[in-house]
Amino acid sequence: MSTGLRIVMLGRQGAGKGTQCRRIAEHFGVPHISTGEMLRAAVRQDSVLGRAVKQVLDAGQLVDDELMVSLVQGRLGEPDARTAGYVLDGFPRTVSQAQSFDDISRARPVNLVIDLAVDRELVVSRLSARRTCEQCEANYVATGSEPSPWKCDKCGGAVTQRADDTPAAINKRLDLYDQQTAPLIDYYRAKSVLAVVNGVGTPDEVFARLVVAVEGVTKA
Ligand code: AP5
Ligand code: MG
Repeated sequence: MSTGLRIVMLGRQGAGKGTQCRRIAEHFGVPHISTGEMLRAAVRQDSVLGRAVKQVLDAGQLVDDELMVSLVQGRLGEPDARTAGYVLDGFPRTVSQAQSFDDISRARPVNLVIDLAVDRELVVSRLSARRTCEQCEANYVATGSEPSPWKCDKCGGAVTQRADDTPAAINKRLDLYDQQTAPLIDYYRAKSVLAVVNGVGTPDEVFARLVVAVEGVTKA
């Protein structure tokens, strides 16, 4: 595909968007653009953006639409995304963001929107056990017998619980998903770019389903 492969990954918090988008990025040679990772990097760097969004993130609230659209527009304008495309993880997340995304991507529209489907009960248990490397964002599952301090196998960074993986913030985020993000499933179904992929199973099983869905577009 000469103009690249452009994928949006929808799915509840804890559905495995980050886990699977990293694999899609590697397999299909497209950049993984995670708005959550971009925001958390800004918080770590204590930049102006980071200071503006830290409390919003920690409480599990959504960052302002206008700010998110300009952040994504800037990132999609970089050379790698312009040529290879992208797998977009965490954006759009409201109908207003989706409408703005239509405008900013008009020259190179999205090829495929995936709804990674996992029910609420299962994602709550995944998120409660999730531990994340503060440096490279590799995910781990807490079993209760981890070393302390816990170091990342991949980069040696500190493995901790994300500030928004507390029970209160998890519930807030999932409520917001139902209210603000779930309507995007119908929004993209109406545009005939939606594929619903079952996100339950081992990461390898889920990835195999995703490859089939993406190849349906690349080979079309
Ligand atoms: P973001 O970073 O996008 O977080 P999220 O949407 O809450 O989603 P998660 O990262 O929690 O879940 P995931 O689906 O990536 O699951 P993962 O692969 O880690 O956003 C964070 C915050 O930033 C938002 O709350 C908001 O404040 C702000 N923000 C970002 N974008 C925004 C936007 N557009 N507008 C406004 N605000 C925005 O997997 C979860 C766990 O499950 C892991 O432990 C993993 O190892 C495990 N797991 C994964 N797959 C499987 C499997 N198949 N089986 C068993 N376990 C699995
Ligand atoms: Mg994620």
